[in-house]
Amino acid sequence: MLYPRELIDEIREQNDIVSVISEYITLKQKGSSYFGLCPFHNESTPSFSVSPDKQFYYCFGCGESGNVYSFIMRMENCDFPEAVKRLADRAHIALPEPEYSAEAARNERLKQQIYEMHRAAGRYYYAALHSKNGERALEYLNNRGVREDIQKKFGLGYAPSGRNHLCEYLRKKGFSTEAMLKSGLVMESRDGRGLYDRFFNRLMFPIFDMQGRPIAFGGRVIDKGEPKYLNSPETMVFNKSRTLYGMNFARAARKSEIILVEGYMDMISIYQAGFPNVVAGLGTAFNADHARTLRKLADSVILLYDSDEAGTRAALRAIPVLSEGGFNVKVARVTGAKDADEFIKKYGAEAFGRIIVDAVSHITFRISCAGKNYNLQNADHRVRFAEEAAKILAGVSNDIERDVYTKETAAACGIDEDSLKSRIRKIMDASESEFLKEAEKRRQRVYDGKRAAESGQSGVNEAQKTVLSLSAENEGVRKAVFSALKPEEFENRVYRTLAECICEYAQRGEKAEPADMISLFEDIEDQNTAAAVFAKKNDYEDVAKLEKELSENVRKIKDNHISIIMLKAPNAEELKKLVEEKRKLNELHITISDS
Ligand code: UTP
Ligand code: MN
Repeated sequence: MLYPRELIDEIREQNDIVSVISEYITLKQKGSSYFGLCPFHNESTPSFSVSPDKQFYYCFGCGESGNVYSFIMRMENCDFPEAVKRLADRAHIALPEPEYSAEAARNERLKQQIYEMHRAAGRYYYAALHSKNGERALEYLNNRGVREDIQKKFGLGYAPSGRNHLCEYLRKKGFSTEAMLKSGLVMESRDGRGLYDRFFNRLMFPIFDMQGRPIAFGGRVIDKGEPKYLNSPETMVFNKSRTLYGMNFARAARKSEIILVEGYMDMISIYQAGFPNVVAGLGTAFNADHARTLRKLADSVILLYDSDEAGTRAALRAIPVLSEGGFNVKVARVTGAKDADEFIKKYGAEAFGRIIVDAVSHITFRISCAGKNYNLQNADHRVRFAEEAAKILAGVSNDIERDVYTKETAAACGIDEDSLKSRIRKIMDASESEFLKEAEKRRQRVYDGKRAAESGQSGVNEAQKTVLSLSAENEGVRKAVFSALKPEEFENRVYRTLAECICEYAQRGEKAEPADMISLFEDIEDQNTAAAVFAKKNDYEDVAKLEKELSENVRKIKDNHISIIMLKAPNAEELKKLVEEKRKLNELHITISDS
């Protein structure tokens, strides 16, 4: 942990979760909680709840939960230390120099070196492009119409031919072999002949993080060759899912709408044509992490993928990811060119501007893609197309929008509007009842630990959750439970940490706050797991029932723990002892004393 626990807790306390979350979404009070539309999945009725008492949030729709740190980590797509920093700033709390462990300090140094190496490499490639060696590359770039000011702004460069130019350059600058290998710029040869450069004889595109630091490179062959583009591997500073090419420039443009394209050159051409709100993927499929990253830049997206079939397929796959990410999604198409770069070269910036203005809703796009598979002169095809279109339209949650597109579709394919409408209604009703069923199932999973606790691993997990949740809230329960159970008997790593924390606080005569316990974990998934424990609703009214439930769960946890030790039992003697211990569990009863 970077900072002392007390400080982490204090920063959390100084940032009321309701007021922090209200800066992102609209919350309305209902009873003792606040509700709003979940920012982590797409929904039209609020199922995202925030508890001011417990100081954490929980979404009944998607199951996301956590404290104020988890919220910032998810919303801002940042790690735990960054969330601490932001919230400390917000509460005007000064952070001390972080207490790095030796290992963390080493990692931090390595990271800084990787950043430095990328800056150095960027300068090196840039200089090479403008040297004698880079003549052909520069000519190629000029022929593709990239202006000089744009070349400079994007830091375009050239990796010269040869085995280890960059290696030698970095070596002279004093970087160690280890750091060079970790940067991804340099590789180790299998024949033991030492290090060599990853990139040679390629046009180099530095890839920047949101702050504008170069963190990776994409390298294009000059003219023809395979692979056309070679990208840096993921490193300590480069996560492909959290990076989009040009995001630093798009951020500076501060527009709420952003154009998403496939290629580096598309991005650069569009930017050069006077549209600075554009980013490109890095050659991987667009995923939910990309959507979260993009969310920091805009809330509307215009998808502009290549005009070939692969581009259409990729766009159709990106649409649901973007919708789920809460974006308003439109689709633009280039005609008469393979991609945006070629289009701008052929028809100019003004024509490109019209394409953007003419972008259609993703619904229209999906329906028109579906239409391409049918011959609408044929009655049978018309029926099948109408069915496919109805399914798409049933997914539109806004009534007016749905009506407009339904009318458009009916007219376009010559089917009766009313029958299309009634078909859509039927699909919607069916999917709504499906959704309600799903939601009910989820609710059961969360609250009804007892049910899932029938058998097996999930049963043990539920038992650990129940026991922890009850102990965290009630002093009497805690005493009774932990006189019979040791934290190390919790098999789940997250639950074990929680148990240790509850006991440690108790020893000091303090109560561990659930919202603080969540930030025992730096990993967002761990935080979710921890928060789910405290999202359970508990009832202490009937003590006899409570004791029975606790006894069953404690037995289950101990039984599971013994089973695991048994697997490692060194001899028959040991094994016999464990079997006996297991048998004795039947006699274990938890009694809550009055306190
Ligand atoms: P394209 O082949 O459409 O690239 O791939 P492009 O930008 O139109 O290329 P130019 O105009 O010929 O220079 C789109 C994107 O897919 C990734 C790159 O990110 C590229 O920009 N890609 C493509 C790779 O990662 N590797 C490849 O071999 C090819
Ligand atoms: Mn392309």
